[in-house]
Parts: sequence; structure tokens; C-alpha cells
Amino acid sequence: MSIATPAAVPTAAVITELTSIAERIARMAGQLILEGRRSPVEVASTKSSAVDVVTAMDTASEKLLREMLAELRPLDGILGEEEGSSAGSSGITWVIDPIDGTVNYLYGIPNYAVSVAAVSGPPDPATWTVLAGCVHAPALGATYTGGAGLGAFRDGLAVRANAPQPLAMSLLGTGFGYARNRRVVQAEVIARLLPQVRDIRRLGAAALDLCAVAEGGLDLYFERGLKPWDLAAGALIATEAGASVVGLRSDRPGENLTIAGPREGVETLRGLLLELAADRDAPDVVV
Ligand code: IPD
Repeated sequence: MSIATPAAVPTAAVITELTSIAERIARMAGQLILEGRRSPVEVASTKSSAVDVVTAMDTASEKLLREMLAELRPLDGILGEEEGSSAGSSGITWVIDPIDGTVNYLYGIPNYAVSVAAVSGPPDPATWTVLAGCVHAPALGATYTGGAGLGAFRDGLAVRANAPQPLAMSLLGTGFGYARNRRVVQAEVIARLLPQVRDIRRLGAAALDLCAVAEGGLDLYFERGLKPWDLAAGALIATEAGASVVGLRSDRPGENLTIAGPREGVETLRGLLLELAADRDAPDVVV
């Protein structure tokens, strides 16, 4: 029987270098998409449903990120929202969201971002180790970075998640999926949570929701349906800022459910979400 050798933990210098590459390419893609908003933004295609949209800038931003990674890190793999995965040989994969918050981008709401993370191991939130990440929101003028074991920062200044609050005093962020049968359950869950919290926010970009937890702009956040590129960089930044980022039935966040905030608050919210079985979908609704 062969025993798998754990991947070597990169040094702080390597993590710092990966973080600086993440920031550099996220900023370049951010500049591209910000300039792209000067012309009318239109839907180029749709994905899982008619409201799950792709703009020409999603495609252009991912192309730019991929070109820069090919130049700077030719041996690494890439997993991107629009073009899928390309394998590498180094054991590191870049997990990229060229525009997180595409619907905000389409409507000119400034809460959108480029999210870039370097992970070691297969690019699967159930097993990966996120080494470095950057969430850059060009229209907000905010750049969040994190390196494993090295802290979380907004524009170079350290950020910290809020101390635990009673649920009744907690500002809770969330998001909704694009499929109707998922939204049926999400509406039910929100209806049960709203009377129990300070208030609810739906800001429209998961990576920025996680960064909001990291800097105390939200006390708690949860969402069902996050893809690897929605959460890789933001989850690292939130964790490095002292938050706990977990799933519903696993300590790993993922598509099934992601919950973030101070540990005690996360456990209280997790208990409620378990009671509500928040990781289910309704049967398909015929429109
Ligand atoms: C979406 C946003 C949104 C979240 C959705 C994501 P996209 O990402 O993060 O806030 O609710 O689950 O898919 O499609 O804009 O990259």
C-alpha cells in the first residue's frame, strides 16, 4: 500500500510572491473591466438560467488573467469561471473569477470584483489549501489580499473580523442562486432568519461578502451554491482575518453551503441552518 506524501508547505516567501502575483493580475483585470463600463454593457450569453449572465468583459478579463498567468506561472494550473480548467504540473492551481458580481456590473452597481487565488492540491474546496488570494473591486477602490499564515489586508492595512455578537445584533449577508427551485428554499430560509437578526444584506458579489466579514462590514454571511472561484480568495481573506469559514455538514465551505463569521456566531447560525435544512432545493418548478 502506498502512502500519499503531503504536499510541502510553501515558505512565507513563496506565499508572499503568490499573493503579490494575485494582486498584480487582479488589478490589471480590474482596470480592464472598469474601463469596459465606460461603454454600454450587454449580456453576451447566459449559463445556468436566463438571469445567470456573461458579459463580453467576463470573457476578456479571464483571457487577460490567463495570459498573465501563462507568462508569470507557466507550470501552474488554472480553474476559471468562464473557461474551466487547464492542468498544470507544479501542484498549484489559480482559481479565478474574472468578474464576481456580474449582475451588479451589468447594472452599474459598483459592488463587483476580480477574485484570484492560488491553491495547492486539486482545485476542490473540500480538500484544497488556499495559499494566497486577492479580491480587487476597481469601482470601490478596494483591494483585499491574504496569504496563508500571513494575515489579511485591505489596501495594505490589516483587517479583522468582528467579535461575536448575539444573533439578534448581527448583520447577516447572504446571496441567492440563479435557479428558481433553489430560490424557493432560499426565500423560506430567509423568512425564518430575518426576524432573528439585526438585518439582512444581499450585496451581490460573494467574494466581497467574504471580504466584508473579514473587515467587519458584515457580522455573518452564508450562501448556498458558491463555486470554487466565488470563494477561494475571499474565504482565505476571511479566515486570515480571524473568521471561521465552514460548510453546513462539514468544516469545509463549498457549493453545498458556506458560512462565515466569528466562530461562536457561525456555530449558532449553522445550528439554525441545519434545522431549516438550508442545503436542500425544491423540486423543479415548471414555468
Ligand atoms: C455570483 C455572485 C453572487 C452570488 C452568486 C454568484 P458571479 O457570482 O457572487 O453574489 O450570489 O452565487 O454566482 O456569477 O457574479 O460571478
